[in-house]
Amino acid sequence: MQTNLKVKRFNPGEPGAQPYFQEYSLDVHPDSTILDALIQVREEVDGTLAMRCSCRASICGSCGMRVNGRARLVCKTRVEAVAPNGEQLVIEPMGNQRVVKDLVVSLDTFFDQIKRVDPFLKPDSVPEQGEFIASNESMTNLLISMNCIMCGCCVSDCTVLEVDSNFIGPAALAKAWRFTEDPRDGQRDERLKKLNDEDGGIWDCTRCMQCVEVCPKDVAPMDRIMEMRDAAIKAGNRNTSGYHHTESFYNSVKKNGRLDETRLAIDSAGWTNIPRLLDLAPIGFKALLKGKMPPVMPHKAEDKQKIKDLYEKVEGEQK
Ligand code: SF4
Ligand code: FES
Repeated sequence: MQTNLKVKRFNPGEPGAQPYFQEYSLDVHPDSTILDALIQVREEVDGTLAMRCSCRASICGSCGMRVNGRARLVCKTRVEAVAPNGEQLVIEPMGNQRVVKDLVVSLDTFFDQIKRVDPFLKPDSVPEQGEFIASNESMTNLLISMNCIMCGCCVSDCTVLEVDSNFIGPAALAKAWRFTEDPRDGQRDERLKKLNDEDGGIWDCTRCMQCVEVCPKDVAPMDRIMEMRDAAIKAGNRNTSGYHHTESFYNSVKKNGRLDETRLAIDSAGWTNIPRLLDLAPIGFKALLKGKMPPVMPHKAEDKQKIKDLYEKVEGEQK
């Protein structure tokens, strides 16, 4: 079948080089993956094209790239599945990571993020004899995160990292979850506190779901982050703007059936935190000028009683 590739090329090692797109049209076997097509380009058309791959079986995590704007393992993605009629496929290096050449990105950012969560067990004590016995259930639970092949697709498409490079990132936070859940670890509370307090920690995720959608191994990093938020709150970590934001959101929808945006902003900053409140002032002023200032007295939903009933039902079930 015919395939048309539009590949982003860039060699930062060349003085003055700028990124550009190069197009390739070629005949590929109907069962070809995008990786097969790229290898065919490199072997038959253009030996200068740089890419990274190894297992070709979605195990090693080397071949993450952006295909039509979305991170994928190209060895797991068949050409026919995404371009059945020869539509153009735009292939770019993964996002949020430094390009080494063409489709190859540096793994430095990825592993720097992983290192931030101390990705190793910190047991309180080691049994004098024998070994630490963990239940089958607890180990099976860890598989959710241990299935991660460190491909970096979630980091590539994380919308928070796009604007805040200090965010620990979805893959590293899914790794952190693995250690907070491991019964052999003795630092669960300390880990949760650190992830809760740290700038760039669990409260910086905006729940955009991108990491869940692109992860080829169903690690669902965002779900792991939400579980750590719950665990951190249960462990008593409530003095963060993230927690205040969640609490304010919950209370205002419960009370009015709608979000009270003015109160949400002030609650999140903290009523006594003058510097943070002052930070909000320019945003409020801009919103006012553009006619987007939320009302001081919150709108109330017409069917707010229904929402209240829902809350009471869920709260009753939780008890
Ligand atoms: Fe890749 Fe998923 Fe691991 Fe992220 S969590 S690095 S997307 S396998
Ligand atoms: Fe190993 Fe794609 S080449 S995961």
